[in-house]
Amino acid sequence: DEEAARSSISTGELPEPSEVIVAVTEAYERFRANREGAVADYIPVLAEASPDWFGISVVGARGRSFEIGDVERTFSIQSVSKPFVFALVCEAVGDVDARRLLGVNSTGFPFDSLVAVELNLDRTMNPLVNAGAIAATSLVPGSTAEDKWDRVREGLSRFAGRELSFNERVYASESATNLRNQGIAHLLQSYGRLYFDPDEATDVYTRQCSLDVTVHDLAVMASTLANGGVNPVTGEAVVGPGVCRRVLAVMATAGLYELSGDWLYEVGVPGKSGVSGGIVTVAPGKGGLATFSPPLDVAGNSVRGQLVTKYLAERLGLNLF
Ligand code: DON
Repeated sequence: DEEAARSSISTGELPEPSEVIVAVTEAYERFRANREGAVADYIPVLAEASPDWFGISVVGARGRSFEIGDVERTFSIQSVSKPFVFALVCEAVGDVDARRLLGVNSTGFPFDSLVAVELNLDRTMNPLVNAGAIAATSLVPGSTAEDKWDRVREGLSRFAGRELSFNERVYASESATNLRNQGIAHLLQSYGRLYFDPDEATDVYTRQCSLDVTVHDLAVMASTLANGGVNPVTGEAVVGPGVCRRVLAVMATAGLYELSGDWLYEVGVPGKSGVSGGIVTVAPGKGGLATFSPPLDVAGNSVRGQLVTKYLAERLGLNLF
């Protein structure tokens, strides 16, 4: 309501730690019993996740953190990797070329397109949906797939502030079932929109999605984007502030797939979801929020994650607008 909205107007800082603790704890209790959504099963190993797993982490732009629930449990990063790989690519090739080569729009169709009505779910072109994300991975510097993979793993680890490990089982499970992504990569190659061998680019992309993280790692990664590219825990400059700005712009436009507009309307901060149940949210200058809860809605976004983030964006005054 109006009064609640007024009391949560952005101040440029997160509230006091004691307030953050109360708000995060209340969010956890409030949405814990929610039973909506379904755990992803199109990658066989992901179907083993429990719908009860649930964790929330907040890491401030100066490194203070608070978390609750399943905060030790690791899960594969999946699509949450995409903005961070885009950040590495933007840093390596520059934001002008990154935009030219990958696109940064939510639909890629003109305002009066009829085709968009039928096709835009499959044909959007930006680095946060699979086509653009595989193209972004293909642009990661390195002359071999191994070089590119090392660069992705090291880069994402610098965002997280610790060496991220690779989940062999998720990788094997997805590799055996990702004909669709291979198809996208070959199609992009036919249009001259892929910048490396399609099978190898898909393989590095699949590895990237199989990096294991905790909800705390995701919040540190988000907080690094909130802090102009400097990891607030390690103090390392991972990417420049101009790159962060571009990454956040693309997250605001496309971070929650076809529900990105609804997300921005309700939550008002850039976010990114993944099919294993993670969502990261970046409040520029303030910090990062991450949630982990495997049951997803029809678009592939964590149900509890969206509820918690919407609630906390209000309680913590994160909405940019
Ligand atoms: O490309 C895929 O199918 C997955 N490895 C990643 C997809 C994903 O996380 C989409 N999320 N909502």
